[in-house]
This record gives sequence, C-alpha cells and structure tokens, in this order.
Amino acid sequence: MKIYLVGGAVRDQLLLRQVDERDYVVVGSTPEEMLAKHFKPVGKDFPVFLHPKTKEEYALARTERKTGRGYTGFTFHATPQVTLEEDLQRRDLTINAMAMDEQGQVIDPFHGQKDLQARVLRHVSAAFTEDPVRILRLARFAARFHYLGFIIAPETLALMRTMVEQGEVDALVAERVWQEWQRALTEPNPEVFIEVLRECGALRILAPELESLFGVPQSPMTHPEVDTGIHMLLVLQQAVKLTSDPRVRFAAMLHDVGKGVTPAEYLPKHPLHEENGVALVQALCDRYRVPREYRDLAVLVTRYHGLGYKVIQQDLAQAKDVLDLFEKLDALRRPERLAQFRLACLADVRGRPGYEDKPDRGVWLEEALQTARSVSVSSLNLGDNPQGEAIKAALHTARIKALAQVIENITSC
Ligand code: CTP
Repeated sequence: MKIYLVGGAVRDQLLLRQVDERDYVVVGSTPEEMLAKHFKPVGKDFPVFLHPKTKEEYALARTERKTGRGYTGFTFHATPQVTLEEDLQRRDLTINAMAMDEQGQVIDPFHGQKDLQARVLRHVSAAFTEDPVRILRLARFAARFHYLGFIIAPETLALMRTMVEQGEVDALVAERVWQEWQRALTEPNPEVFIEVLRECGALRILAPELESLFGVPQSPMTHPEVDTGIHMLLVLQQAVKLTSDPRVRFAAMLHDVGKGVTPAEYLPKHPLHEENGVALVQALCDRYRVPREYRDLAVLVTRYHGLGYKVIQQDLAQAKDVLDLFEKLDALRRPERLAQFRLACLADVRGRPGYEDKPDRGVWLEEALQTARSVSVSSLNLGDNPQGEAIKAALHTARIKALAQVIENITSC
C-alpha cells in the first residue's frame, strides 16, 4: 500500500496556513489489510478508517458515480486497482485535489498549485456537478479565501448556475445547508458566501428572504447605499470586524429581512419592517433547523433594533425604555444577551458607506444593566408578606429609579 496526504491539508500547507486536520488516502490496499493493521473502520458510506494511534482519517482510494438526485445518490468503487489520480479526479476543486507523498513530493495532476498561485477556485472535472453540497462548499471557500484574492473561475460559476437550473439545490438537506452556512459565518468574509450563492442563483432558492432584499430601496438620507441587499452585506462585514461570535453575525445578517416585504407604497420607508421580519427569520430558522441560540438572538435583533437605537443614544434615553429593552432581551437573567444585541446593532449602524467609524455609543448600557440587576427583592422595603404582583411592581419601580440615576450621572458628566 501507499499512503498520501490529501485534500485541505495539502492546500493549506502550500498556502502557508495552519493545518488543523489531516486526511490521507491509501492506494493499493483492502479493508481486510487495514483492519489487520489495527485501523478502525468509521465510514458509514465509504471505506474510511481511523489510524490506531493518531486517530487521523485514512480512506481507501475510490471513484464515485452518481446514481440519483442530491448528494446521497452515489455508488463508489474502492479496489486496490483504483489509482491516486482517479481518487483525486473525483474531488471538487483543483486546489483540493492535490496529494503529498511521504517524502513531501506534491502530486498535482489537475494543476492545483497553478490555481493556488493564480488565486482561482476551479472545479476539477464535470463530476463537480454530482454533489450539490459543493455549491455551498465553494461559496464557503470563497468566503474563506477572499482576503487572499481568490475568485471563482468563470467556467465553474457557469457550472454552478447550470446545477441550480437543473434543480440540484432543491435536493439539499437542511442539515448540510446549515452546516456550511454556519461555517461560512466563521470565515473572514461571510458576505462573500451570500454573494456567491446569489451569483449562481442558489440564494433565491435557499434563502428567498435575503434574495428579496436586493433591489429594495431605503432612504438615501440615512442609507447612502440605498439598496437593502447591499446594506445586508455591509452589515455582515461590519459584524465580522466587531466579533467572532457567529450568532451575532447571523443576527446582523438577518435583522432587516422585513424590508423585503414592505408594500411598494411605503418605499423607501419601511414602517413595519421589524414586526414583519420576525416571521421571516423564524421561517428561515425552521427550514434549516437553526440552533436555538442563533434563532433567539436573530429574532430579538430583528424585532427590537429600533428600540435599541432609541436607548443607545444615551442623551435621549429614558429609564423606562432602557428597562423595557433589558426585559425584552431577558438581559436581567442573561446579561450576555445585551452585549450580543449591542454588537449586532452597532454592525447595522456601521454597515453604511461613510458610517464605518461611528463610535460605539452603547457601552454605558453595560453599567446600566449591572445596576438594574443589583436591585434585588431583599434591597426593597416591602413590609410583611408581600404578594407576587406587588414584588414585581416594586422591583420594576426600583429598577427604573436606579436606571434614571445612572442616566442622570452620565448626562451630567
Ligand atoms: N471533497 C470533495 N467534495 C465534497 C467534500 C469533500 O471533493 N463534497 C474532498 C476535497 O478534496 C476535500 C477533501 O474531500 O479537500 C476533504 O474534505 P473536507 O475535510 O470536508 O474539506 P477540506 O478541503 O479539508 O476543507 P476544510 O478546511 O474546510 O476542512
């Protein structure tokens, strides 16, 4: 048998990026031989084994053939006769289709090194179309490598468009869409993920809520970019600058989806976009079984970003609005929510041309939250045997008083 390092590890090594995961391909072997060498079988669908010591993945060289729609309709062929080149040929991109032998020699039959140098994401062969997840993967790689100057080869983009037209994207399952989307949110340019999906026509199918934002105007007085879709992309990029938390990035991306359904007679205003956005965010999260903590934050930012701005302008803030915001966010019990919410709102403020350096005016809210949280039942003078409603009302009043004091202290400095 011969063993080669393959896929992302070779690519990242050549790009001088950190290699987190190493995958190997084994040529000229059989499952029996692998088992005899104490490799552990893990592949449900493919002959993949874990190294007994390093636990790294070793897959027998294989070819694949598409037998049905979507990405589950595959048969594979793995015999000792399958060559390294055949195994590399079934892979998605030229930069992912290189191998390295034990001496560090690169085997590169599809010119991945040339494409790495030219900064091009290019499919290896027409077999790219056999797996629709590759559309999402490619959009994710574009989001990851955008900062290095990578672009998608025109012929690859054309192929992706054809796949979308042939209905391949409809066959994607929710988990895989979310898995790729979630990973894209952790990349340096997640807005490129959305742009690529839009360019190939997949966004219209996967997230019509986001596609609908393009071409919808906002007032040029407050939004020099005018187009709501452009605003969404700019906000997402600003969110990246503010935080590595993908939940905040997700919420920032979605916060204005309600603008996509504003009746034409109101444009370029969007009077009910917060309320209208909630159902759209929920529908998208249902569709992709988005985890709770992403969904909850996205719903809150969508519904209350207007209240957020009202409160964040500290000289205009009223104690009752501040407490109202804390209660809506459930921040008295979950203080981390306030920080997440503020960052998403700040990304929104900055996600407009000319507004990128706007200061963070909401820092004082953190102190205000601590003050509101420090008002406890035991600090109140409630007399004997107070009832539930009376306690609640007294807490509310005491918190408003404490918050009014915070606001007064700040404005008087
Ligand atoms: N691969 C593919 N088509 C897919 C999934 C994977 O061709 N739908 C191939 C690619 O050659 C890829 C390798 O399998 O490089 C390993 O896949 P994976 O570990 O998912 O991706 P990486 O390229 O290692 O990228 P990442 O850094 O995101 O893990």
